Amino acid sequence: MPYNRRRFLSFTAAGSMLSLGSLAAGNDLIFTPRQTAGPFYPETIPLDSDNDLVQVKGKNAIAKGTITNVYGHVLDRQGEPVTDATVEIWQCDANGRYHHPDDSNDAPLDENFQAYGKTQTDAEGRYRFRTIKPVPYPGRTPHIHYRITTPGGDQLTTQMYIDGFAGNQRDGLFRRLGSEQRQKAVSASFVDNPDDSAELMARWDVVMG
Ligand SMILES: [Fe+2]
Repeated sequence: MPYNRRRFLSFTAAGSMLSLGSLAAGNDLIFTPRQTAGPFYPETIPLDSDNDLVQVKGKNAIAKGTITNVYGHVLDRQGEPVTDATVEIWQCDANGRYHHPDDSNDAPLDENFQAYGKTQTDAEGRYRFRTIKPVPYPGRTPHIHYRITTPGGDQLTTQMYIDGFAGNQRDGLFRRLGSEQRQKAVSASFVDNPDDSAELMARWDVVMG
């Protein structure tokens, strides 16, 4: 294995000890499939664009939805961690509404949700976000949009899904991935956070092809 497991065990997110275990793909890496960015990448990056999407600077309340610590690694095609990769995510709020002028959904806007976040991977290739568990919106199964840009300029745009969510198999973009292996490669398990019963955790590793 090209990375040091023991060092991952000391990784904390939102105060939680996260046991990262081994990379599922091991020495048989599956490149993360590309997916469309869709129409809702922010037109204007919000003033608060950090990796905590649940708390918007200047707002007293937190976002609606189930708080989820989304974390994982960015790896290159050899399975080596990519340091200083930029990881961007964007998703609709708990009402199914994108914070984008082109979203015609008239669901109320959750102004306490940041809707977009950006971070850099550390020396071990790790990233993390505090966000909400994605929800369905008209025409789509729940997903979080990702764009990863390496220091060398390689870019991967894709979407992450909830593993086992019933609606996935009725979603056109998810089905278009074809094989179960490719669908698994864009799916993360959303599990209880052992340190905080109000929150979930979802680990998702990205392999740049
Ligand atoms: Fe979307």
